[in-house]
Amino acid sequence: MKLPVLPASSFGKDFLWGVATAAAQNEGAYNIDGRGLSIWDSFSRRKGKIQGGAKPYEACDFYHRYKDDLMLVKALGFSVFRFSISWSRILPDGMGRVNKEGIAFYHRLIDECLALGLTPFVTLYHWDLPQALEKEGGWTSHSLLRWFTRFVTLCAEEYGDKVKHWIVLNEPMGFTSLGYMLGRHAPGRTGLNNFFPAIHNAVLAQAEGGRLLRHYVKDAYIGTTFSCSEVMPYTDKEDDIKAAQRMDILLNRLFVEPALGRGYPHNDFPLMDKLYLHTKAWKYTERMQFNFDFIGIQNYFALTVKHNPLIPYVQASEIKAASRKVPHTAMGWEINADSFYRMLKRFWMYGSVKEIIVSENGAYFKDELKNGVVNDVQRIDYFQQYLAAMYKAKQEGANIKGYFTWTLTDNFEWAEGYKARFGLVHIDFKTQLRTIKNSGYWWRDFLKQ
Ligand code: GAL
Repeated sequence: MKLPVLPASSFGKDFLWGVATAAAQNEGAYNIDGRGLSIWDSFSRRKGKIQGGAKPYEACDFYHRYKDDLMLVKALGFSVFRFSISWSRILPDGMGRVNKEGIAFYHRLIDECLALGLTPFVTLYHWDLPQALEKEGGWTSHSLLRWFTRFVTLCAEEYGDKVKHWIVLNEPMGFTSLGYMLGRHAPGRTGLNNFFPAIHNAVLAQAEGGRLLRHYVKDAYIGTTFSCSEVMPYTDKEDDIKAAQRMDILLNRLFVEPALGRGYPHNDFPLMDKLYLHTKAWKYTERMQFNFDFIGIQNYFALTVKHNPLIPYVQASEIKAASRKVPHTAMGWEINADSFYRMLKRFWMYGSVKEIIVSENGAYFKDELKNGVVNDVQRIDYFQQYLAAMYKAKQEGANIKGYFTWTLTDNFEWAEGYKARFGLVHIDFKTQLRTIKNSGYWWRDFLKQ
């Protein structure tokens, strides 16, 4: 994608520019002021699950440093701050007893955002289920919706007067596939017996969360997020094309289509037929749907796959960007702004999507802190390409209302521990010292225009 020299103002006066963060990745303070454990605290204790044996216990210590970090958001020129609420901080057992100190923390955080003129944009669920609920079956349990209703209602009633911008779930494909099918993320479960009920509960929870927010929060702007990645076949052989189609259904259609009232995308893919039958999905089409004000699109990579009969169900395997010698991040993820443009257009083409917010986009590169400077030119280049792609999609009619970078500071990057750094601000995790990277300064200058 060619880089236009565009000022931020060309996206429109009301365009939302934000940074996105998540409680489990930033807050730390895992056992302070009455917080209960989350599945990530427990999962990180299992040998070999997290790079370097890292724990999310302290993370960025955002719990204590939120004022300084919000000052950074402000200094970089963003007007929106996306964060999530740690379920086990406000309901240590997942249900029942409310932790007043946890409730008070989010009031302080929201008040500080408002005092600084930052719009608080709240994610209800960003992957950190209370461990107490995981013991009862977690996302696979029949009780999940009841637990979730309690959590959402509490958040809406507590914060709904001050917070108007809400996201129900962060990337349901991410936490159900990695956490309940592949076992690479918390809670580390595997197999279809876990995956199917987790998918179905997440699909119902995203719609139900929307309904609850609509009911409890006056004038709420309600959305939920979906990860997306364009999937390309390695060759134009029919087998490869079909493999790419199956992967595409899983990665790009499984969660958004039920939300839009289309039910599960179950034709042409035996695994999805199974899901359809297993969940008796036809009974739920209406309950799986909610008329969201916006959908959040999160994009990190494009995929190329080829047919591989050895891979269960999807029968496709990835041909890594490095082996294809195409540009990629330190995560190994293909950099492909054109594919981002195509995905934005594609989600818009559903027709029933009212507004799109790019609720996460960003990259990990091997940053070096030298004499107090992180000159992360690759990240700057990445943002320029992706913003240009977004501009093009918007110009061509996709109703894109905002863009959030992932993320403010380096943080606890799930199974990658503290190694994979996505922040605009570098953190020395021994001292918690923050250093704005050159990409952070680039954003400041971009947003100033
Ligand atoms: C997203 C996730 C974020 C962050 C990011 C970078 O899928 O929502 O929490 O970790 O990926 O890997």
